[in-house]
Amino acid sequence: MSKIKMKSNLAPFPKPGCIIGAMVDGRPNFMNIVWVNRMNISPNILAASVNVKHYTLKGIKQNQSFSLNFPSIDLVEKTDYVGLVSGRDVDKSKLFEVFYGDDENTPMIRECPINIECKVHDMVELPDHVVVFGEVLNVYSEEQYMTDGALDPKKFNPIVFTRPGPIGTYWKLGDSIGRAWSIGKNLFE
Ligand SMILES: Cc1cc2nc3c(=O)[nH]c(=O)nc-3n(C[C@H](O)[C@H](O)[C@H](O)COP(=O)(O)O)c2cc1C
Repeated sequence: MSKIKMKSNLAPFPKPGCIIGAMVDGRPNFMNIVWVNRMNISPNILAASVNVKHYTLKGIKQNQSFSLNFPSIDLVEKTDYVGLVSGRDVDKSKLFEVFYGDDENTPMIRECPINIECKVHDMVELPDHVVVFGEVLNVYSEEQYMTDGALDPKKFNPIVFTRPGPIGTYWKLGDSIGRAWSIGKNLFE
């Protein structure tokens, strides 16, 4: 079967729905962000790519901190909304119940099953985005999203985002197809 050469404007997908939080000029602000990944084991460093034009970036730079909040499917409208309007024009701080962990300048969203509090480790400026590397200070969740003390995807119901072309779509998680670092052992000689 021959391969079709496609346009290069493609990012890895699916990605989890995610909302980044930062304090901008003393007010919590939140925006939709899907370009998020883990970058280091110890310390745990996550990277988020934020467009230079976004209001959120101002707060990340001001406080050298941000949060990553992973919503469940029931928050899909609000998750999309914070990706449609800017905190420069609209006050997005009242949309969610905001809570704080160790740092009073890192707003997090109580309704999101998973919240990660990060302090900036480093920033890399690219032509139109700044990659913000955050060292994880704390991760917050609730018993209702866990099984035997571990986060359970079936319980926190993450939003799954795909963008194979110009159209982005939200989905919910499907069925498990195997254990990682395990199912491949079936091919061991
Ligand atoms: C599905 C979706 C994914 C997005 N992913 C990103 C992203 O990874 N990085 C980014 O800079 N902006 C991303 N955006 C755009 C911002 O969320 C959007 O421009 C937001 O309004 C900026 O808010 P702010 O100006 O209050 O910071 C995304 C938007 C949507 C709807």
